[in-house]
Amino acid sequence: MKLTVAKSAGFCYGVRRAVEMARDAAQSGAPCVMLGPVIHNQAVIDSLMGLGVTLVDRPEDIPEGAAVILRSHGEGEAVHRLLQSKNARVVDTTCPNVSRIHKLVAQAQEEGRRVIVIGAPGHPEVKAIAAWCRDPLIFQDGKALEEYLLAHPAVAEEPVTMVSQTTSTQATWNFCVENAKKLCTNIKVFDTICNATCARQSEAQRLAAQNDAVVVIGGRDSANTRRLYELCAAVCPDTVWVERSDELDPSRFAGRACVAITAGASTPVWIIKEVFDKMSEENMEIEESFAELLEKSI
Ligand code: F3S
Repeated sequence: MKLTVAKSAGFCYGVRRAVEMARDAAQSGAPCVMLGPVIHNQAVIDSLMGLGVTLVDRPEDIPEGAAVILRSHGEGEAVHRLLQSKNARVVDTTCPNVSRIHKLVAQAQEEGRRVIVIGAPGHPEVKAIAAWCRDPLIFQDGKALEEYLLAHPAVAEEPVTMVSQTTSTQATWNFCVENAKKLCTNIKVFDTICNATCARQSEAQRLAAQNDAVVVIGGRDSANTRRLYELCAAVCPDTVWVERSDELDPSRFAGRACVAITAGASTPVWIIKEVFDKMSEENMEIEESFAELLEKSI
């Protein structure tokens, strides 16, 4: 059996940067709290907590004098203001791609434009984007957007600015743009899906088409892992999603000629390696790509 590991599997640059910033803060010796998990991977959160970082859910619960790690998904303007008023030492790990969206929607609001966000309404990244403007409309997909605009023609006639969650799929975004341009009379669209997401999704789709089975590794809360899983499963029905190697029984792939492994943006290389090692116990022939991936390890 041949085993191929996606070159784009694991940490993107935004997640790597966030974890490094959080580790540096944890090791600085000062008391340190995370306002929400810095990335969506429990093993990484556990390791930061092992370094003494505590996790709080609400800004009100941040103790005086603590350094505050803001998550890679970003926070709303009100949270930044509150922390400023508390004179907190802020370690802002918001991915620069996400910060760019905050600026775009804040500017749209200043210009009197209605903001439309394409993404998962409950996801922390989307909640934070929504918190940088007033009364944004949030849609999961193009169908929901189309239904809303048809039912609310007055909104379709307002000046509108549309952005996307960074981890949306290109197909979802393209369908939204098509519908919005058809129905809105004054619209600006900003494709804010990040390049790392595009590359990871296209490679995963290609591997899913070329292999008999796919293993997708990533946290259950991770939106980009979920999308990766859905994209692979649509092409290759034998796609499994695991968070850690102990969830995987490699013997289930018996008889398969080739299997691919990919992983979400918040999956550390050591977890990918755990899964890889477990799969390799089945005497698989390995593609070179894993060596490159190990170099990305932090
Ligand atoms: Fe940033 Fe894209 Fe990663 S938005 S956190 S580089 S998936």
